[in-house]
Amino acid sequence: MKNQTVIGVVGAGAMGRGIVQLALAAGLDVVLADANPETSEEARAFVLSMLQRQVDKGRLAEKILNAAESKLQLVSLDDLQAFASCDLVIEAIVEKLEVKQQLFTKLEKVLSPQAILATNTSSLSVTEIASACKHPERVAGMHFFNPVPLMKVVEVIHGQLTTPAVVKKLQELAAVLGHQPVLVADMPGFLINHAGRGYSTEALRILSEGIAGVEDIDRSLRDQCGFRMGPFELFDLTGLDVSHPVIESIYHQFYQDPRYRPSPITAQRLKAGLLGKKTGQGFYAYVDGQQQCHEEADPPAAQAVPVWVSPNIPEGRRRLLDILKSGSARLEAGQPSAEALCLITPLGEDATTAALQQGLDPERTVAVDTLFALDKRRVLMPTPVTRRAYLNQALGLLAEDGTKVTCIQDSPGFIAQRMLACIINIACEIAQLQIACPADIDIAVKRGLGYPLGPLEWADQLNPALVLQLLENLQKTYGDPRYRPSTWLQRRARLGISVTTEPTY
Ligand code: NAI
Repeated sequence: MKNQTVIGVVGAGAMGRGIVQLALAAGLDVVLADANPETSEEARAFVLSMLQRQVDKGRLAEKILNAAESKLQLVSLDDLQAFASCDLVIEAIVEKLEVKQQLFTKLEKVLSPQAILATNTSSLSVTEIASACKHPERVAGMHFFNPVPLMKVVEVIHGQLTTPAVVKKLQELAAVLGHQPVLVADMPGFLINHAGRGYSTEALRILSEGIAGVEDIDRSLRDQCGFRMGPFELFDLTGLDVSHPVIESIYHQFYQDPRYRPSPITAQRLKAGLLGKKTGQGFYAYVDGQQQCHEEADPPAAQAVPVWVSPNIPEGRRRLLDILKSGSARLEAGQPSAEALCLITPLGEDATTAALQQGLDPERTVAVDTLFALDKRRVLMPTPVTRRAYLNQALGLLAEDGTKVTCIQDSPGFIAQRMLACIINIACEIAQLQIACPADIDIAVKRGLGYPLGPLEWADQLNPALVLQLLENLQKTYGDPRYRPSTWLQRRARLGISVTTEPTY
């Protein structure tokens, strides 16, 4: 699209004003309407103040700001004719199917035949919105994220009837607006909200089984994997009034696929009004807006005791020995002596299964997660019969260099392994279902969800065959199709190729 493009925006709330800001910053002409004219006025003042801020920071040319005032035209909804000159109208009004359909059918009557209608819907079907229009082929989704100017990604969603030319123009426009477009099929949750299901629902599953508490789950994912926010911090920030319905809606729209299964925990907490930060109490308590956390208990002192490290997973053993060799542990070679603490490093198996398989004494066995970073936190897992004295030995030795330690209940895949396995599995399924291409999946997840790595990149870094093994072990332990590996992952893991590989023919 060229710079003389005129964009119409209907809805001047949180999203609409963000889109207006982007368009003005890109030097485009904008026509804006809202059901409430005062909201349009407020939006104008807000957007101009945001642009002024950008000028003050040296991020925007003053002449763009000066021009913006005349480039933004506020119009009344009674005067839809004012949108006649628009090349594209984006709606960011209330999330109601019939209201959006009504608006589009009215706009269709005044727009030129080439003009595009785009919806910013976050949960409705683009195809269904378009179905009310005479020309559904010119309707598409343009799904921005909040706050629009900072979230530099936009899902361009093609409905069943959207023409490729419309999609191409929206991709070009996204680039003009300084946002990365990702091309997405019209499927429940589109791409980013779909990809986020693993992080939320698997964390709830871990919590529901009593494997670890809220704080330990969050700490594990921040410190071992580099997530900026733990899943429960994220729930609290978003509010359960928003996230619980999204969890349920995506699950039902995929006809109860167990991969997206909700948890009664959020349903119950929502009923109790424990919404999160906005109500002062969510998974965490908030005092003056500050999240309240418990102090972590000091680990036991390190003792000079015999320690045997399992050779079963050579890389895990190497990483553990690297830590232990400079501490007090008296490392044993060969078979463990009768008193030795036995450390194992299972992948996707629980400590009990791994100890018994290796013929170890489960009363002296402790599992350590060595798959992720070990410099900030180490996560340990005893069997249900591990003696306290041995668990204390393990905690003391692994905390001896000052690194934090977390002890969780026996679980297949600790916290981080199973969370990552689920996130990657869902991303692979998104590729398999052709909702988006692998490159767009990674870009969208990094920009839209703020993950440190794209899920497919992450799979390649870990090794696709290993991710497959984690999922197979989870599925074996639970007998739950929730963990069934995506066929996209299975094939690429078996071929020994990257999970970003698309068919070559
Ligand atoms: P909002 O409530 O902040 O703003 C909506 C605006 O639309 C209000 O100013 C309202 O007066 C106006 N409006 C309502 N019905 C209208 C009508 N029939 N004609 C003209 N104006 C009308 O809502 P928000 O958050 O900006 O969301 C707008 C759309 O964007 C929704 O479809 C939502 O699902 C979607 N969305 C929201 C995101 C968010 O984080 N807030 C993220 C991505 C998409």
